[in-house]
Amino acid sequence: MHKFMTSDELARDDRFVRTDIPIDFLTADEVTLEDLESFFKMMRPKDKDAETSARIQDLGKRLRPEDDRAPVAMQSQMHGIFMGELQALEGAGRSCWDYVDDDALPWKFQFDMARQCWDESRHVEIYSALLDHVGGQIGQFNENVMLFEFACSDDPAERVVGVNRCLEGLALDVFNETIRFGKAAADETIWQSVDYVSADEVTHVRFGSVWSRVLTENDPERRRQVVQFQRKVNRAFSFGGLRGAYDSRTDEEFMPLAIELRKLAGFTDDDIKDVRDAAPKIQGLTA
Ligand SMILES: [Fe+2]
Ligand SMILES: [Fe+2]
Repeated sequence: MHKFMTSDELARDDRFVRTDIPIDFLTADEVTLEDLESFFKMMRPKDKDAETSARIQDLGKRLRPEDDRAPVAMQSQMHGIFMGELQALEGAGRSCWDYVDDDALPWKFQFDMARQCWDESRHVEIYSALLDHVGGQIGQFNENVMLFEFACSDDPAERVVGVNRCLEGLALDVFNETIRFGKAAADETIWQSVDYVSADEVTHVRFGSVWSRVLTENDPERRRQVVQFQRKVNRAFSFGGLRGAYDSRTDEEFMPLAIELRKLAGFTDDDIKDVRDAAPKIQGLTA
């Protein structure tokens, strides 16, 4: 079977429509407010059948159950996470297979990736059910394959950093916010289901913390490259510096880091600071 596949080769049926990823914008050292606006115009989830799409002015605002946009925004969020779980399954599956001939890699690496596949396949089912629960359907919004892109590095240490530490770290933050929304909406199905999935994601982030250390032990150059890759991916997931901004209505941070969950997954205070500091400089924004 073919190894080291690209995101173009992912199998999807005709329900799915794909959007491009503006990788240059996401990895830039400095962005302008205009760049940010066109990024959000491009990336906002588009509902294929209805008029309703995410509005620029709502980006960076915490979602509350009483918001008019809440029903569609929650459908979009569940759809986005469903797609992310599917790509996490595909990425971990590829990491089980791509390195079977690599004698330098302990078999326990594949074992952990196989365990992750088992979990991610359950998560795909859980989010498919949650999407039903909030009245959405598979294929309702466009898909971007950003997650899988970071699972395509040739170096397994970069894969576990990009996917397990950076992306699944982001998932912990998103899930924390979804649990918060579910509790505010008194929707036990949402918050309890997402809480169960979060427990698995803590394990996956921990895989990233452990394997990135083990695989670069005694190889400072490889470790340097892996840390550099981690910064790049963390920057991409700062979404042009929008994370860490404040919701103008409530003065609360937009999608704050899930500190407690990240610490359970092996993040130190310095690691958390690295994630916070990963955002690009935004030109034209006064401090
Ligand atoms: Fe997952
Ligand atoms: Fe995961």
